[in-house]
Amino acid sequence: MLDVRGLRKVYEGSGRRTEAVRDLTFTVEAGELVCLVGPSGCGKTTLLKCMSGLLAPTSGEVTLGGRKVDGPPPGMAFVFQEYGRSLFPWMRVGANVELPLKQKKGLGAARRKELVADALESVGLADAAGAYPWQLSGGMQQRVAIARALAYEPDVLLMDEPFAAVDAQTRADLEDLVRRLWQERSMTVLFVTHDIDEAVYLGERVIVLSKSPTVVQEQLKVDLPRERDQLTTRVTPRFAELRTHVYEQIQAAKRGAVAAPGAGEEAEVAKAVGTAGGVPVDVRKDMPPLR
Ligand SMILES: Nc1ncnc2c1ncn2[C@@H]1O[C@H](COP(=O)(O)OP(=O)(O)OP(=O)(O)O)[C@@H](O)[C@H]1O
Ligand SMILES: [Mg+2]
Repeated sequence: MLDVRGLRKVYEGSGRRTEAVRDLTFTVEAGELVCLVGPSGCGKTTLLKCMSGLLAPTSGEVTLGGRKVDGPPPGMAFVFQEYGRSLFPWMRVGANVELPLKQKKGLGAARRKELVADALESVGLADAAGAYPWQLSGGMQQRVAIARALAYEPDVLLMDEPFAAVDAQTRADLEDLVRRLWQERSMTVLFVTHDIDEAVYLGERVIVLSKSPTVVQEQLKVDLPRERDQLTTRVTPRFAELRTHVYEQIQAAKRGAVAAPGAGEEAEVAKAVGTAGGVPVDVRKDMPPLR
């Protein structure tokens, strides 16, 4: 569905040269929900901008359904990290959410109004349609940006740390909303986050990126049940095992160690587990194999 092959991005200009992404290759299947985690500055936003056709890669390519992405593809929506700059301050919230719908063929005004109302309702902002973005709090503005993407009913949804500015309770509600909409609408979702627990709770698969210049450090299938619940899923032993594993990978990524499955990982485990009576204790020995 969404294929990233040998993607490299070097920013050049004003006497600076930054190799943000070195060599990224991965695939997202149709209808999959994949979370991307990686250290700050490792090129996550750069990657999403290349995937959405907003930025041209230096080399490599992105294809969507077999077609090369060289501009924003129809059917794809992007929730930006910088929500403050992604809403038009002179337009009311309702008009902001409706704007991309005007690009969609065959949508009448009545249907557009309905989609806007539904999307605002689903992010808990049913009353805010008549306000201007600058009259809302940061977290509310971020929810408007999410509503705008949802109203568009995309086939592919790219989200760049969309919940960074919302409080913990709203964040939990929005996580459940993303999973529910993903299941109901069979969207393909690529979700970028700093938050390891969020990545494991939300994703069907987690891709861990190395520090800049970026490569894929590891991919991990999240074998938690499809029906997830903030209270019960997060306290299961399997959830704890998966989050510990991703945490270790991120630590390795920060140190610049690209985990080789096998020897490298054993070394990491040995360092992390400590000893009991001189005998190394592998806290993960009972863990089912990670795929
Ligand atoms: N427009 C730009 N021009 C030059 N360098 C840039 C530009 N955008 C990003 N960079 C550089 O590319 C690297 C990756 O930035 P990017 O924003 O993609 O990281 P990120 O993983 O999204 O970070 P964060 O987790 O903090 O959001 C950084 O070193 C950054 O300084
Ligand atoms: Mg970013």
